[in-house]
Amino acid sequence: MSIVYLNGEYLPMQEAKISPMDRGFLFGDGIYEVIPSYDGKLVGFAPHIQRLNEGLQLIGINCSREQQEWREICEQLIEKNDGLNLGIYLHISRGADTKRFHAYPEDLPATVYAFAFEIPAASIADKSKAKTYKVSTTEDLRWQRCNIKSTALLGNVMHFQHGFSRGYNETILFNNNNEMTEGSACNAYIVKNGMVITPPLDNQILPGITRFMLLDILSRHSSIKVEERIVTMDEVFNADEVWLTSSSKEIAPVVEIDGSPVGNGKIGDLWLAAQTLYSAHKADY
Ligand SMILES: Cc1ncc(COP(=O)(O)O)c(C=O)c1O
Repeated sequence: MSIVYLNGEYLPMQEAKISPMDRGFLFGDGIYEVIPSYDGKLVGFAPHIQRLNEGLQLIGINCSREQQEWREICEQLIEKNDGLNLGIYLHISRGADTKRFHAYPEDLPATVYAFAFEIPAASIADKSKAKTYKVSTTEDLRWQRCNIKSTALLGNVMHFQHGFSRGYNETILFNNNNEMTEGSACNAYIVKNGMVITPPLDNQILPGITRFMLLDILSRHSSIKVEERIVTMDEVFNADEVWLTSSSKEIAPVVEIDGSPVGNGKIGDLWLAAQTLYSAHKADY
């Protein structure tokens, strides 16, 4: 039985009830986070909570809590739910109003909902055991505030479905200048001549926590060179390697894009080096 958290209470998932007038339901008016945990240990907790607070501030939801209170919720959910590897989903919406009106209501108590769900075991830095990804591409038709981790995910859902319905694991997105932005639910990278290259942080992409940790780990613990710059789709199709990152995927090697192999169509050596370093150091965050 799944135990969830709703507005201060822990209860079975089927007993958790949210008003149909909740602005999260009516407008997708909220912020969320997904924090991975392996063997009960949360990965990247502090940067995840920092991004959550920044998101709340960006959209003007008043829900200030100490970091320790968020940690308590996450740890309670890990304790109350079975599973070695659990993602913790935290969702804060602007709350339930009495009417449907676009303007932000004042002093509405935010709705805080959280649950735990099973995630795949942590990636193993071994080419023969890694899950490979085949992806499609499509134009990024989302809004211009993709740096906000909004619960309004219809654009991402439709982009993910574009690839999924064609038998792909993900969809890489490009803007109207033919520049890669990110995946529908992950950040994206190419590797060319030993260099890891990923688009810079701006309003077109989510500032992924896995991205932050990976770039920090590579700069602290390796001599692998990273460039944060515009990546054209021509470069994507001619890359030696392509990777995706997210909290549940860690570093995912892409071996096929729109039916064509990436590089030699096999997992690359830089992926192995990066995932080895990530596995060794992710617990520091
Ligand atoms: C659109 C998008 N970009 C990037 C990411 C990766 O973020 P993180 O590494 O924090 O999981 C996600 C994760 O859900 C996402 O939905």
